[in-house]
Amino acid sequence: MRVIVAKNYEEMSRIAAMEIAKLLYVKPEAILGLATGSTPEGVYKELIELNKENRVDFSRVTTYNLDEYKGLTGDHAQSYRYFMNTRLFNHVNIDKNRSHVPNGVADDFEKECDEYDAAIENAGGIDLQLLGIGRNGHIGFNEPSDFLNLNTHVTDLTEDTIKVNSRFFDNIDEVPTQAITMGLGSIMKAKKIILLASGESKAEIIAKLVEEKISTRIPASMLQVHPNVLVIVDQEAAALLKNTSNDGIEYLK
Ligand code: GLP
Repeated sequence: MRVIVAKNYEEMSRIAAMEIAKLLYVKPEAILGLATGSTPEGVYKELIELNKENRVDFSRVTTYNLDEYKGLTGDHAQSYRYFMNTRLFNHVNIDKNRSHVPNGVADDFEKECDEYDAAIENAGGIDLQLLGIGRNGHIGFNEPSDFLNLNTHVTDLTEDTIKVNSRFFDNIDEVPTQAITMGLGSIMKAKKIILLASGESKAEIIAKLVEEKISTRIPASMLQVHPNVLVIVDQEAAALLKNTSNDGIEYLK
């Protein structure tokens, strides 16, 4: 796990966007795994700019998003499909038919999950997976638990997640209590993973992710065994990292 401590949110976003740009330069038909949440918004803004300047081409790219709320249609303002359309897809030259977000209103969720994993596999697997992290250590919607799921599945959201995510809804009762999410196996199969975290509220979980033992109670800690993970955090999210002089932690001055 390589950790880059960026000066601030903008720099974190720029570094991540450049990593994606570099990949698309050498592999224009790359398969991207994308994430929602406030954290990657800056990366998407950067990518939109790079696309406008003809420095990044999305015309041959395929994308798979990590998760979607169960019960929300793609035109619901808080659905992750809507998020992706408005924050990225509507503004770049991507073929939306090749952008995939799990269907939150599928008739048959078991089938939807199986087909989502099969589609990723058939496409050749994810080249680069972008991740945020929940304060409780969730990635996608893989919540802390005694057991974790390998594959795409429907999951109950924890009270903490519902509370944290209620900031986007009019009131907490409107937050879906379940979601469909890629599993740990689906995420870990990605060839490269970039996890982003910004701000004080992520400092504790970033210290646990980087410095503590692997535990299903911190789903993101599984990333420690992945061979190609880049963690990019800003200084606030890095505040509780103890071993910042260790190999593998880079400060960008
Ligand atoms: C959400 C998403 C995650 C995201 C996380 C953090 O619930 N399911 O994919 O990484 O919470 O969100 P934020 O970036 O807004 O802190």
